[in-house]
Amino acid sequence: MTAIVADDLVKEYGDVRALDGLSFEVEDGEFFGLLGPNGAGKTTFINILVGLARASGGRAEVFGFDVEDDYREARDRIGLAPQEFNVDRFFPIHEVLEHKAGYHGIDPEEAARRADEALKTVGIYDKRDTRFDWLSGGMKRRFLLARALVTDPDLLILDEPTAGVDVELRRDLWDLVQRLNDDGTTVLLTTHYIEEAERLCDRVAIMDEGRKVEVATPDELQSRGTDTLVVTLASEAVGVPEFDVDGVNDVTLDGRTLSVTADSAGSVAPDVVRTLDRAGLDIADLEIRRASLEEVFVDMTRLDEEKPAEVEA
Ligand SMILES: Nc1ncnc2c1ncn2[C@@H]1O[C@H](COP(=O)(O)OP(=O)(O)O)[C@@H](O)[C@H]1O
Ligand SMILES: [Mg+2]
Repeated sequence: MTAIVADDLVKEYGDVRALDGLSFEVEDGEFFGLLGPNGAGKTTFINILVGLARASGGRAEVFGFDVEDDYREARDRIGLAPQEFNVDRFFPIHEVLEHKAGYHGIDPEEAARRADEALKTVGIYDKRDTRFDWLSGGMKRRFLLARALVTDPDLLILDEPTAGVDVELRRDLWDLVQRLNDDGTTVLLTTHYIEEAERLCDRVAIMDEGRKVEVATPDELQSRGTDTLVVTLASEAVGVPEFDVDGVNDVTLDGRTLSVTADSAGSVAPDVVRTLDRAGLDIADLEIRRASLEEVFVDMTRLDEEKPAEVEA
């Protein structure tokens, strides 16, 4: 069963085309990342999945249920931790969770049990009688996750869950969500912390300007970037030796450090070592630096201002 199907989704807000023919699928059980610069359309896509926005064109399904025609069935399977805080501020947080569970058809006794469990899972059970307003920023983030979990969703959607949270909480949330995924929950995560996607996601979709640019594993994406083979020579060389190695893009020398760029540093390394050996240069150290996913991402999305201006006729 496919967890999410997006099929040629379009969303227009007046003149703004927030989604411009977005299509991709997420498998049941996947940890899937949606990456893209601000304004790419990530939140708009999520809003369509949960029924907060209506698509102007195309369609979307969650576990086989059309998000519009079978709204109830689709929505009941989703737990959403939204980007913006949208919480009833006047009730103790355990009550907010009980209301939420009740709204999704869970009986009061079970709702109370689930509320306690969700608060324990995210580590704020001792704040159960506190109002949302009075929680610290980090606890608010934890609470949003608890609220997403209280219905025991098959699909957990996290929209920039770690934006502006400290490192410790970020690690905590990562561990937690990883565990939920290990136990079978499908996760859709939007983020612009590339490290987050790299660590957590099985696959990522890169979006820009309402369209999908690419879907791949973080590893596949990384391998598209340029690697650098950094060779530390035993002593300073007079100049760069003659390099005739297939796959090497560029060689630079700075003191004892020789940097060789290549699409795949691993596959040129043996020839590089042989070349240096023949030139009589001893190697003290050798290190392969892979392109970071961040570099590849920036390259693929090219922030607007870096794009050549399109001339209107
Ligand atoms: N309710 C709205 N009304 C008008 N424009 C909107 C609305 N929501 C989003 N947009 C616009 O749609 C585009 C995509 O926004 P959004 O989905 O929030 O992107 P992201 O979550 O990737 O940062 C942006 O240009 C944004 O200004
Ligand atoms: Mg957003």
